[in-house]
Amino acid sequence: AQRKQIDRVLSLLRLTPEQLVRVRDKMRAELEYGLKKDTHPQATVKMLPTYVCGMPDGTEKGKFLALDLGGTNFRVLLVKIRSGRRSVRMYNKIFAIPLEIMQGTGEELFDHIVQCIADFLDYMGLKGAQLPLGFTFSFPCRQTSIDKGALIEWTKGFKATDCEGEDVVDMLREAIKRRNEFDLDIVAVVNDTVGTMMTCAHEDPNCEIGLIAGTGSNMCYMEELRNIELVEGDQGKMCINTEWGGFGDNGCIDDIQTQYDKEVDEGSLNPGKQRYEKMTSGMYLGEIVRQILIDLTKQGLLFRGQISERLRTRGIFETKFLSQIESDRLALLQVRGILQQLGLDSTCEDSIVVKEVCGAVSRRAAQLCGAGMAAIVEKRREDQGLERLTITVGVDGTLYKLHPHFSWILQETVKELAPRCDVTFMLSEDGSGKGAALITAVAKRLQQAQK
Ligand code: BG6
Ligand code: GLC
Repeated sequence: AQRKQIDRVLSLLRLTPEQLVRVRDKMRAELEYGLKKDTHPQATVKMLPTYVCGMPDGTEKGKFLALDLGGTNFRVLLVKIRSGRRSVRMYNKIFAIPLEIMQGTGEELFDHIVQCIADFLDYMGLKGAQLPLGFTFSFPCRQTSIDKGALIEWTKGFKATDCEGEDVVDMLREAIKRRNEFDLDIVAVVNDTVGTMMTCAHEDPNCEIGLIAGTGSNMCYMEELRNIELVEGDQGKMCINTEWGGFGDNGCIDDIQTQYDKEVDEGSLNPGKQRYEKMTSGMYLGEIVRQILIDLTKQGLLFRGQISERLRTRGIFETKFLSQIESDRLALLQVRGILQQLGLDSTCEDSIVVKEVCGAVSRRAAQLCGAGMAAIVEKRREDQGLERLTITVGVDGTLYKLHPHFSWILQETVKELAPRCDVTFMLSEDGSGKGAALITAVAKRLQQAQK
């Protein structure tokens, strides 16, 4: 009887092939919706123009600074690009962003960022150097050019005040002015998906899609300019930051949401927002697992029916723990060890159930992400009038990199739901800092050509 109850809960997370096809088709409709002038303002998949129109052509060169804010780590980088052999050398430093700064005032946040830049320049012996800077800022921004981007709203774990609606480049410039110690030439503001796509495109010209499956979930791709009603011009392509994390915010995937998803949403910093992201990304999967474990415990099916203080604590199941628990090389005794580390006392049966729950949650995430990806590659295939499309997706993010099953389930799903597309997934090895530098290099080249 207990087994039946557990299976009933697990079955809530199982998606049928028909449901996945529906998710793909709804995603497709939302992508089209966001590109059209009339419907763009209400679109939940925001489809933001990035003003990145050209791919690196191998002639890029020079020394650049890059900032990478919004993933697990905040990094400051120095990137040296040499033309010809497409070789790139990078030096970077990771800095912590304390919670009280992520959720403090905007001024404090940007002062902290500038403090980190100052430390980095000091450390590299570069004080006083006037380098062009590319800013990878992994949040939705309304851009009007490559170096202008107003933050639409915070997502993930950030909630600094007085930033929404403001231009992030201006906020950075003002913080640099307040410090009055050095000057920097901020050339580009870039989403992490775009940086990732660029990094991979530097090696593989077929890479026209960027995917992040990490703390958050998002995708960008190269779109025909003639399809982007918000931007003038008909020739060539521009990269669109889809912000697909907001898919479902209009209720269009309510049918597959469970009570656990709703609980996670309600306990988050942005209730009602980023519903697809909350079902597919690292910041939230552990929370879904925790909600399910609480429910199973309440039903007396786990942890001897005792809900411990630990289990009540938000954020205990980080992506790295889920990844460890699901690793096939791990014996159940080791799973119990991990739960022990998390402060959860489990029996052998408990550890089996926990592993099953983790598996069901991450499989659903990978399938949903695959359904989204299938929508975009199919769109690109049809738009180009091709029988078959061959395309590369540049990918980054801790969930994709660390989880033992996420990446293959994602790829299988894309194969099933977009059978006429040959999609290669290429891991971005150096994060999006390199991509930001490449975009900065291209933008610098265009700037100079215009002068
Ligand atoms: C990094 C990129 O490698 O991946 C970041 O440089 C990006 O820009 C990050 O935000 C996404 O992964 P995560 O898991 O750290 O959010
Ligand atoms: C969130 C952000 C988005 C970013 C993604 C991955 O969805 O809104 O801009 O690309 O996380 O970091």
